[in-house]
Amino acid sequence: MINADLKNKTALVTGAASGIGFATAQLFAVNGCKVALNDLPGNDRLTQSVKALLDQGFDVVAAPGDTGNESSALAMVTKAGQELGGLNFLINNAGTPGTKSPIPANDLDTPNIDFWQRLLSVNLLGPWHCTKAAMPMLRASGGAIVNTASTAGIVGNGSSSAYSATKAALINLTREHARAFGPDVRVNAIAPGVVESDWECRFERTDEMMASIPMKRAGLPQDYAEAILFLCAGASYITGHTLVVDGGLTAGPSVEA
Ligand SMILES: NC(=O)c1ccc[n+]([C@@H]2O[C@H](COP(=O)([O-])OP(=O)(O)OC[C@H]3O[C@@H](n4cnc5c(N)ncnc54)[C@H](O)[C@@H]3O)[C@@H](O)[C@H]2O)c1
Repeated sequence: MINADLKNKTALVTGAASGIGFATAQLFAVNGCKVALNDLPGNDRLTQSVKALLDQGFDVVAAPGDTGNESSALAMVTKAGQELGGLNFLINNAGTPGTKSPIPANDLDTPNIDFWQRLLSVNLLGPWHCTKAAMPMLRASGGAIVNTASTAGIVGNGSSSAYSATKAALINLTREHARAFGPDVRVNAIAPGVVESDWECRFERTDEMMASIPMKRAGLPQDYAEAILFLCAGASYITGHTLVVDGGLTAGPSVEA
């Protein structure tokens, strides 16, 4: 695990009640950063996660808000920035599959317009709203953004075609914003593969599937947090990049051509 000196730095992590977001908030806090943890209003897990970090003596605050709702997201980011005293890092990590089980790409009926709109709102417009609200603070600090995309946004085969499409769009938005806001603000993304988290959508995980991953296991939230720390605290000449963190899942099958 890499370390960084994040004393006097601040970060806002969305979707931080659990999984990759919580591991990221924790890793940044361990490295001296003051962190605002966002998740949906009324999510008890956010309260518990913030308490767990406060109990360990870390400098963290709760920042409830729905990132997919424009007014909620703008108010949340503004308030978090005020409580943190500025913003160095924005981690746009909140996301949803919108379904408890995968929807095959050839199913054109289940993903109705409400489903599409929810995924677009949370997975694509959420990062847009938070970026918009945070940009003045990030420009002032010479900060960085990391968006949590997915390997589904590169090779497809996510929990639904809509999910894959929103993550592909997020990867493109990452490039757009890197071009637009450099050199003041760097904007990168990570593309997780299989994640060991309480993700709403349950995939069947067979031994054969795990064996097909070169690293022979699912990624732990800490594996992704470490990549996000690198892209925020180091990586001073990296922007517009999507770092694939998938244990080699998308490297291709290990067969001889
Ligand atoms: N789990 C996977 O298999 C996987 C794979 C690739 C990418 N990802 C991405 O990683 C990110 C984190 O997922 P995770 O695996 O840690 O799952 P997770 O369910 O533990 O974390 C996602 C968090 O986002 C929160 N959230 C959802 N909608 C929100 C909203 N509108 N506003 C604020 N918070 C909201 C949820 O409450 C949850 O706490 C997501 O963007 C997801 O798309 C996950």
